[in-house]
Amino acid sequence: MSNSIFRTKKIDKIIADAAANEEGHSSGLKRVLNVRDLTFFGIAAILGAGSFSSLGGAVFSGGPGVVILFIITAIACAFTAFCYSEFASRIPVAGSAYTYAYASFGELFAWIIGWALIMEYSIGNIYVAYSWSDYFTSFLDKCHMHIPEYLSTSYVEAKHAVEGASTNKDLIAAWNMAPVIGGLRIILDLPALIINFLITYLVLRGVKESRNFSNVMVILKLIVVLLVILVGGYMVFSGGLTSNWTPINDAGIKSFMPNGFSGVMAAVSGVFFAYIGFDAVSVLAEESKNPQRDLPKGMILSLVICTIIYILLTLVLTGSVNYRNFDGVGDPLAFIFEPQNLNIGWMQFLVAICAVVAMTSVLLVFQMGQPRIWMSMSRDGLLPSVFQKIHPKYKTPSFSTIVTGLVVGVPILFTDKTFVLDFTSIATLFAFVLVCGGVLLIPRRGKEAGKFHIPFISGQFLFPALIIGAIVFLGLQTHNKLGTGYFSELLNGDFKDYSDDKILKDKLFFTTDIAKLSTIIFWISALLLSIFSFIKKYSLIPLMGLITCLYLLTGMTKSNWIWFLGWLSIGLVIYFLYGYKKSKLATNI
Ligand code: ALA
Repeated sequence: MSNSIFRTKKIDKIIADAAANEEGHSSGLKRVLNVRDLTFFGIAAILGAGSFSSLGGAVFSGGPGVVILFIITAIACAFTAFCYSEFASRIPVAGSAYTYAYASFGELFAWIIGWALIMEYSIGNIYVAYSWSDYFTSFLDKCHMHIPEYLSTSYVEAKHAVEGASTNKDLIAAWNMAPVIGGLRIILDLPALIINFLITYLVLRGVKESRNFSNVMVILKLIVVLLVILVGGYMVFSGGLTSNWTPINDAGIKSFMPNGFSGVMAAVSGVFFAYIGFDAVSVLAEESKNPQRDLPKGMILSLVICTIIYILLTLVLTGSVNYRNFDGVGDPLAFIFEPQNLNIGWMQFLVAICAVVAMTSVLLVFQMGQPRIWMSMSRDGLLPSVFQKIHPKYKTPSFSTIVTGLVVGVPILFTDKTFVLDFTSIATLFAFVLVCGGVLLIPRRGKEAGKFHIPFISGQFLFPALIIGAIVFLGLQTHNKLGTGYFSELLNGDFKDYSDDKILKDKLFFTTDIAKLSTIIFWISALLLSIFSFIKKYSLIPLMGLITCLYLLTGMTKSNWIWFLGWLSIGLVIYFLYGYKKSKLATNI
C-alpha cells in the first residue's frame, strides 16, 4: 500500500486487471473492431463541428493564414498521435490518456487527466450538439419548416447578444419572442437536447450497432467534404478568385495574414478543436480485435486524412470569399455557395444535410469515449464502482453512459458555444502535453514483432539544436527587422493588432500581458526541456509533441486559463476527498 499521490500503476497490472474484468462475471466489452473501423472512428470523431462550424470564426480572425495554424496544429497532433500509439500499444486497455498517465506520472496526474478529459469528451460534445442544432434548423428552414428561434438558441447566447447590442437577428428574435414564465424567458436549444438524448440511447444499445451507423456517416461526410473542395476549388481558379488569398487588411496592406500572426493565433481554440478526436480511438482498445497493431494505425491514418482535408478546405474557403465576410458565419461550408458568393444552390443544400450527418458521428464517438474513461477510473477505485456497471444485454457501460448523457445535456441549458469551445481546447491540449511527457518517462523497451514502437531518434543533440536554432533565427529576424513583424511576435510576444474590428480586437489576446507571459514561459520551458533532453537522451518525437502542444497553449486567453484552473481545483478537491482514500493502490485490493 502506498500513500503517495504519485503512486503509479504497473503496466502489467493494468493489463491483468482489464483481462480479469473481461473474463469476470460481466464478460466485459465485445472485441469487434478492426483497423478500418478504428480509422473510421477517428475520422468520425475528428471531422465535425470544427470544420463545419468553428472554421468560419477561425478564418475571420486569421484570414487565409489560418492554414499555417492548421499545419502547426497538425504537426503537434501527429507527434501526439505517435505518443498515444506508443502508450496504446503498451497498454491496450480502455481509458486513453488517463490510463497512460497512471502508468507514467502516477495517480494524481492520472486523476487530473481523467478530469480534463471530461472537458474534451463531454463539454466538447456540447459544442458539437449546438453546431448540430444550427445546421439542423437551417436545413429545416430550407425545407420550409421553421423552429422558433427561442427553441433553437441557448439562453446564454441570446442574453449576450441582447446585452452586447448584437446585429444577429436570430439571437435578438429568440430573446424578444420567448414566452416568459414567472419572470424567466423560456429559451433553450431543443434540437441539441434531443440529439443528445438519441445519441445516448444509441450508445447504450451497443458498440456494434453504433459502429455500423458511424461507418455510413463517415463515408457520407467524406464524399460531401471532397465535393466542397473540388467544386469550390474549381470555382476559385476558374473565377479568378485567387487574389482572395492575399486580401488587403485594415492597414491597407496585402497579406496572407491580414490580422498578423496574432489574428492567426487567436483562432487556436477553433482550429485545435477541429483536430480533437484522433485520440478517442485509443479508448476503444478493449473493443479492438488487435489493439497493439490496429490502434496506432487507425489513429495516424485518420489524422493524416483529416489534415489534408482541413488544409484544402481552408484554402477553398478563403479563396472563394474574402475572409472578412466570415464574420459571425456558423455554417461556412454552406455559406460559400450562397447566392452572393459562389451561388450554387444544390451545394448549399447538400452541405447542410452532410453537416448534420458529420456532427452526429462526432457526437457518437465522444459519447462512447467518455463512459469508457469513467469505467477505467472506477476500476482503479477513483470513482464509485457503479461507473463500471456493464449492461447485461447490451454489454455497454450503462450507468456511465447515462451519466455522460446528463453531463452533456444539462449544461446545454446553461452555456454557449464560445465558452465550451475554449474550455474543451485548453483541457485537451493540457492532456496532450501530459501524454507526450508521459512517453518520455516510461522506460524504453525492445522491439516486439507486430507491435507499434515509436521510432527512436535521439533528441540529445537535435532537440537543443532545434530550440537554440529557433531562438537565434527569430532573434536575428527581429533584430534585422526583416519580414513583417511576425518573427518578433513569435519570439517576444510583441504582438501587433492589425484589426479594426471591435470583437476581434477583444479576442486578440496577444494584445494583453498574458501573451507575453505565456510566450516567456514557453521559451523558458523549451530551454529547460533542451537541458533535460541533453542529459537524459530523450526521444525526439515525444519531445516535439510536447513542445508543439506547449506552443499551442500559448494561444489561450487569460479567461480560458482561469476557468480551466478553477475546474482543475474542483477536481483536486474531489480526488482528495474520495479517490485518494478509495484508490485500489491505497486499499491494496
Ligand atoms: N474534431 C471534432 C469536431 O470538429 C471535435 O467536431
